[in-house]
Amino acid sequence: MLIVGPITPGQVSFLLGTIPVIAAWIYSEYLEYYKNVAPPKVRHSDVNLVELGNDAVKEDDRAVLLEGGGLQSASPKSRSSFVTTPFFRFLVMEDSFLLEHRLTLRAMSEFGLLLAYFYLCDRTDFFGSSTKSYNRDLFIFLYSLLIIVSAVTSFKIHNDKSPITGKSILYLNRHQTEEWKGWMQVLFLMYHYFAAAEIYNAIRMFIAAYVWMTGFGNFSYYYVRKDFSLGRFAQMMWRLNFLVFFTCIILNNSYMLYYICPMHTLFTLMVYGALGILNKYNEIGSVMAVKILACFLVVILVWEVPGVFELIWSPLTFLLGYTDPNPAKSQLPRLHEWHFRSGLDRYIWIIGMIYAYYHPTVERLMEKLEETEAKRRISIKTAVALISLVVGYMWFEYIYKLDKITYNKFHPYTSWIPITVYICLRNVTQHFRSYSLTLFAWLGKITLETYISQIHIWLRSGVPDGQPKLLLSLIPDYPLLNFMLTTSIYVAISYRLFELTNTLKTAFVPSKDNKRLTHNIVTAVAVSSVIYSLSFIFLKVPQMLVLSNAAYVTGIESWPY
Ligand SMILES: *[C@@H]1O[C@H](CO)[C@@H](O)[C@H](O)[C@H]1NC(C)=O
Ligand SMILES: *[C@@H]1O[C@H](CO)[C@@H](O)[C@H](O)[C@H]1NC(C)=O
Repeated sequence: MLIVGPITPGQVSFLLGTIPVIAAWIYSEYLEYYKNVAPPKVRHSDVNLVELGNDAVKEDDRAVLLEGGGLQSASPKSRSSFVTTPFFRFLVMEDSFLLEHRLTLRAMSEFGLLLAYFYLCDRTDFFGSSTKSYNRDLFIFLYSLLIIVSAVTSFKIHNDKSPITGKSILYLNRHQTEEWKGWMQVLFLMYHYFAAAEIYNAIRMFIAAYVWMTGFGNFSYYYVRKDFSLGRFAQMMWRLNFLVFFTCIILNNSYMLYYICPMHTLFTLMVYGALGILNKYNEIGSVMAVKILACFLVVILVWEVPGVFELIWSPLTFLLGYTDPNPAKSQLPRLHEWHFRSGLDRYIWIIGMIYAYYHPTVERLMEKLEETEAKRRISIKTAVALISLVVGYMWFEYIYKLDKITYNKFHPYTSWIPITVYICLRNVTQHFRSYSLTLFAWLGKITLETYISQIHIWLRSGVPDGQPKLLLSLIPDYPLLNFMLTTSIYVAISYRLFELTNTLKTAFVPSKDNKRLTHNIVTAVAVSSVIYSLSFIFLKVPQMLVLSNAAYVTGIESWPY
């Protein structure tokens, strides 16, 4: 099996971290099994005594070991508190601890194995690869097929009542936004799979719509709940960056390869900042207006004034820099990708915030409209629908049809138009508003996971930081069958990763307990530094030995006498 690319300390650390976890998990399953099988009475008294004894011995050993290295000064108090930390209990494989956390260990192991599958698919020649090919007919056929299937099997009418007016169905309710994400995500993924270059502009639009939703959703959340706590914040960051962080380590990729993640993180942070600063005054309309204005000013300053972007972001180049290994594009500045991606959608999150701010007002207006007499209501609705259609058409004709480069120039200033048109049309009638296709909504929930994993287990990038130019091929020579098989595996894995991210989030990022959260962060940093240093030494020392050996050898040979 050929391995592409060098082995990095990060990958070795991952291996070093995963193996004990998997071992502990298997052992915990064994304990669980044993607990259920063995006759309870006898076993308990026997085994527990023995184990207690063992544990005590082990813990003493540990403590001695820990203090052996000249650390005699450690006070008994700090020692006993370290001994009761979860990490220590894990290290000594305390039975009760393993039993208690069996499911977390299982989730961690599964996560590790799934990432190993990423590596296997993308960085080894274990599976084959094939090239992309685009056929408009097939593309539209597949998409329509999916729509028909989901309409037949997952059409659903919701009856959620609006929390604000208590009456009819919310416009832009959660089902709708998730379904919307699903619609877009499927096209976005198929665009990558089939290299459908002709819908490039539509894809830019979809990403703008996601960013719009980031502004909309986060604004509503922080505005209504006023929950700016560390725990909530950490959970949000975990949700956005957990998978991508480990994927970057395993595959030795840059964060920017998955540009959606830094972008959403940035705009989430901006919304958080905009609402969090002086959040006591959020209720006052003029304060909110000033805040929104300030957002616009910040964006104008950073993105429109030449030079400011580079100045502000250059310290973060290590995180946000990206160089395409493709020689044709590798001359671009490291920050170019970040500038381009974040610039395209620099305004739309603010628009999302504004829409969220006026959401209750619009909802009340719609409520009123729903109660007016039929003739008036229908004429207003028809007018709205007609205007939307005309505006949408104009946008399509004059903006969308532009070539890619020109389109990108206009995109930041025009992307709100189709978004608004879609929102108007989507909720033109009560009935229409309450329908949704749950299959698409389901897909909309796992967009982040499908976005990240597509590059490795559905498509193939092949080398570190490479763009996914190839397809993963499990059934050579049968492109459609292969498409079906890889797609099923890929969607199933994405869904598992979504669930695992949530399970592990609940396990490691408590939302209300800041002390435990801080403790977890410190432990995580400490443990990963130790493992990373070990891996680094492990990898570099043999290399250095080889190098000095080589120098020695060449030295001998070039010796003139
Ligand atoms: C904030 O935005 C991020 C990115 O789109 C999203 O994942 C998250 O769910 C949003 N938070 C809320 C509370 O809507
Ligand atoms: C949303 O639906 C309401 C009620 O059916 C309709 O009157 C209104 O025009 C729609 N909103 C927009 C912005 O089109």
